[in-house]
Amino acid sequence: MKRIAIFASGAGSNTAKIIEYFSARNTIEVAVILCNKPDAGVLKIATHYHIPNILIEKEKFFRGDAYVSELKSLDIDFIVLAGFLWKIPKKLIDAYQKKIINIHPALLPKYGGKGMYGNKVHETVIANKEKESGITIHFVNEYFDEGEHIFQATCIIDETDDTTTLAAKIHLLEHEHLPKVIERLLSV
Ligand code: GAR
Repeated sequence: MKRIAIFASGAGSNTAKIIEYFSARNTIEVAVILCNKPDAGVLKIATHYHIPNILIEKEKFFRGDAYVSELKSLDIDFIVLAGFLWKIPKKLIDAYQKKIINIHPALLPKYGGKGMYGNKVHETVIANKEKESGITIHFVNEYFDEGEHIFQATCIIDETDDTTTLAAKIHLLEHEHLPKVIERLLSV
C-alpha cells in the first residue's frame, strides 16, 4: 500500500474525489491531509472521510523543516497539491524528489505563476477570449507552476461561458483525471 499526503487549502473537491477513488482500491491510501487555512472546506472533507489532518504553521513550513519529519514518520511516499497555494520549500522538494505533483486549472505554461489560482485564472482566460482552456498536472519544483508536465486535458470555451461555468468544466476534468494520473505514477 502506497501512502499519499494531500496538501490543500480550498473547498477540497479534488481531495474528496481522490479519497473516493482510492477507497475502492487497495493499492493507495490517502494517509493525511495538510492544510494552511483553519476554515477551509477541505478540513470538513478530512473529518467526513476520517482522514487525519495537520494544520500547517507558516513559520514551521517556511523556516522549519517544512513538515518533512512528520511526513517521513507517517511513511508518506507521495504528495499531491490539490488547491494548495503556498510555494513548496526546497527542503520538502529535496526530500520528495519527483514525488510531489500539482494540479493547475489552465494549460500551462499559459496562465501560471504567483497569484494565478482558482477563479483568477478563469477570469483572465475569459478576458483574453481564449477558445480553450484545460488542466495541467506537473511535478513541483522551486518555481511556481514550472515543473515538468505530466498530463494535460483541454475543454472548449463557449461564447456563453463565464468564470463559474468555466470553473465547472475545469473541475470535471480535474476530478476525472487527477486520481488516474496519481495511480499511474505510483504503479511504476
Ligand atoms: C482546483 O481547480 C485547482 O486546479 C486549483 O485550485 C482548485 C481547488 O479546488 N489550484 C490552483 O489554482 C493552483 N494554482 P478544490 O479545492 O475544489 O479541489
